[in-house]
Amino acid sequence: MEKIVSLCKRRGFVYPGSEIYGGLANSWDYGPLGTELKNNIQQLWWKRFVQSRDDMVGIDAAIIMNSKVWNASGHTKEFSDPLVECKKCHERFRADQVDKVCPNCGNKEFTESRQFNILMKTFIGPVEGEKAVAYLRGEIAQAMFVNFKNILDTSRKKIPFGIASQGKAFRNEITPGNFIFRTREFNLMELEYFIREKEWEKWFEYWQKEMRGWIEDLGVNLKHIHEIEIPEGERAHYSKRTVDFEYEYPFGQKELYGLAYRTDFDLKNHEKFSGQNLRYKDPDTGEEFIPHVIEPTFGLDRSALTALLESYSEEKDRIVLKLNPKLAPYKVAVFPLLANKPELVKLAKKIYDDLRQHFMVAFDDRGNIGKRYYSQDEIGTPYCVTVDFDSLKKNDVTIRDRDTTKQERKKIKDLVKIFKDKLEN
Ligand code: GAP
Repeated sequence: MEKIVSLCKRRGFVYPGSEIYGGLANSWDYGPLGTELKNNIQQLWWKRFVQSRDDMVGIDAAIIMNSKVWNASGHTKEFSDPLVECKKCHERFRADQVDKVCPNCGNKEFTESRQFNILMKTFIGPVEGEKAVAYLRGEIAQAMFVNFKNILDTSRKKIPFGIASQGKAFRNEITPGNFIFRTREFNLMELEYFIREKEWEKWFEYWQKEMRGWIEDLGVNLKHIHEIEIPEGERAHYSKRTVDFEYEYPFGQKELYGLAYRTDFDLKNHEKFSGQNLRYKDPDTGEEFIPHVIEPTFGLDRSALTALLESYSEEKDRIVLKLNPKLAPYKVAVFPLLANKPELVKLAKKIYDDLRQHFMVAFDDRGNIGKRYYSQDEIGTPYCVTVDFDSLKKNDVTIRDRDTTKQERKKIKDLVKIFKDKLEN
């Protein structure tokens, strides 16, 4: 884990938040490469679950919602974790995450566990008071439920269909930690799939399989994933069945993603609290009912962390991130063999400019060529292109593959097509 944290800082994937002021515990900023990785994960997810499907639409909703939403959804009451306090140092912990001894001072006495609500509170407008209280969303799901009627009216989707969204969520976690695994501000990718009640088991299994497919897209070997049935009592208040997808992290086997059968809990409550008709009317039979919901949910920061951990490898004297090329921040790096030969630099720059019209491309002319290869391996760049003296005569270059380190000679005019074939299929 330390190796990933240090690579992330060293190469510009993730920095400690507010670092010049001594940081802010458990807050992290994505640097240039981390931003590309995160965007690539989001885009791949959106393409897979929204754009390539006929039964899915997307929304992008406000982070601060009317407080009544969170009363109706049960979050103001139920969205809590058990909290204990060390009787000696008064440090507070999530009860299920301390094991008899205070991690801060070693004391063995804690207060009785009590429920702590983890919705993040804020105030709207210039007066701070009960009436001005609002919450930063603790999940995106509620935006999909409160917009259900709008989507029905404007998209003409028929059940079964889904609504997907990506964006920030906030939780006042008692014990954040493990780098970007658990933070108070994080990114979610969620979808709510609306179905008929009698078909819930079929769709649950369907989405369980879809989630496995996505995990493979993320470049994660399913051997490292454990699908855990969450027993009653440990499930979220809205769920009748939950399966967690747990990954073998260096700090233990923990939840990567979750799949829940939310029944008609949310729409039913929003109908009750808002007084609006949130029923679906079958256009063929005229039948009216509140749909049931299957919800696959995906933490984006956990996706990035897991992709990094899974792809990290050390081979002899090189570090390689064997990322799925679709996720790699740079797809190609272009080098002139020697930085002090203007004709090589000129041709390499021309190739760099041409390729940049199609892909994220890096240019590097520092140090020796071996070091440049290693530097790209460490950030997961799948292909390197080297321009040498033969290139000037024969209009060709060397393409070097990150994983095999094999090199092949290819014509410059064919490069765009070659990389499109390699990267887009
Ligand atoms: N709408 C359902 C829902 O929010 P959840 O299991 O509470 O379910 C969804 O959260 C996903 O968000 C988790 O599977 C995990 O990937 C991610 N996640 C949850 N809490 C997080 C945190 N504090 N920091 C980073 N990611 C988190």
